Amino acid sequence: MTLPDAQTVTSVKHYTDRLFAFRVTRPQSLRFRSGEFVMIGLMGDNGKPLLRAYSIASPSWDEELEFYSIKVPDGPLTSRLQHIQPGDQIILRPKPVGTLVHDALLPGKRLWLFATGTGFAPFASLLRDPDTWDKYDQVIMTHTCREVAELTYGREIVESLKGDELIGEMVGDKLVYYPTTTREQSPKMGRITTLIESGEVFRDIGIPPLDPAVDRAMVCGSLAFNLDIKALLEKAGLREGANSDPAEFVVEKAFVGDGV
Ligand SMILES: Cc1cc2nc3c(=O)[nH]c(=O)nc-3n(C[C@H](O)[C@H](O)[C@H](O)COP(=O)(O)OP(=O)(O)OC[C@H]3O[C@@H](n4cnc5c(N)ncnc54)[C@H](O)[C@@H]3O)c2cc1C
Ligand SMILES: NC(=O)c1ccc[n+]([C@@H]2O[C@H](COP(=O)([O-])OP(=O)(O)OC[C@H]3O[C@@H](n4cnc5c(N)ncnc54)[C@H](OP(=O)(O)O)[C@@H]3O)[C@@H](O)[C@H]2O)c1
Repeated sequence: MTLPDAQTVTSVKHYTDRLFAFRVTRPQSLRFRSGEFVMIGLMGDNGKPLLRAYSIASPSWDEELEFYSIKVPDGPLTSRLQHIQPGDQIILRPKPVGTLVHDALLPGKRLWLFATGTGFAPFASLLRDPDTWDKYDQVIMTHTCREVAELTYGREIVESLKGDELIGEMVGDKLVYYPTTTREQSPKMGRITTLIESGEVFRDIGIPPLDPAVDRAMVCGSLAFNLDIKALLEKAGLREGANSDPAEFVVEKAFVGDGV
């Protein structure tokens, strides 16, 4: 490819028939804040780039860039992207943006990261960022998926943290990992929204209910999920923040549409 925005795939790992992760070379000039997204893609059949928004799943200090992706069978991009191999090239527009960043939250004591499905991707970046562990006394990572196998990528990231040379000591006992499934049996079943409403998640972790003086939250899932969590956070007195106006929680869509 002769495009200036071409990057080379360095590794690919498939998790299920719907999910995979891959790593690419990082443009030397690319600076981003953990949690942001960029446009990536492939050259379309019409000779024009076919680009989609993707959260950068690797932390800002990483030499490479990692992405965690859905495979939509007839999706214009992912029907092809799912076949990439090391050595292949993808297009990456080096203009990172997004609201799931520490700058958009006011200081707090406890950080909730609420993800469904591929919404885990921005948190894979934030969990590996020393700032996350520097800023908070406790970090609660919730991940709700339909099936157990869909939790694997997130679980691997979480399990790698304690042994991580850079942040292992900072993580210490600050991390609570709270995976749940909705359509396959697992140790914790149910939508996280239901578990918040019933108070079960707070009893499980052994902490008081959401409190705007203490709790901060980042949310990434389907539109329906984001709206439901937002309503629960607002009911508890937390306000939505933005880069220009930091507050108690921030939200970003994991994808556009109702699902395939
Ligand atoms: C801010 C932002 C960040 C994103 N980050 C990621 C990411 O890190 N990883 C990722 O896989 N996708 C991410 N997406 C979705 C991504 O941009 C594409 O939609 C996805 O790659 C599918 O592309 P496509 O061309 O194959 O199908 P599209 O035509 O884009 O999508 C077809 C349909 O598939 C469904 N769909 C698309 N993406 C997903 C998904 N991730 N999970 C469940 N259903 C989906 C939707 O119903 C959509 O209408 C993000 C989207 C936004 C807006
Ligand atoms: N995951 C699969 O095995 C699978 C397989 C084939 C096709 N698909 C298609 O792919 C699309 C995306 O599927 P996905 O599983 O990645 O994403 P998803 O439909 O957004 O579901 C991901 C998780 O979020 C939960 N959830 C959805 N809406 C919620 C809300 N409003 N509040 C709280 N929790 C909510 C779901 O629980 P619920 O289960 O209770 O909805 C599920 O556990 C779907 O349209 C689906 O038809 C999925």
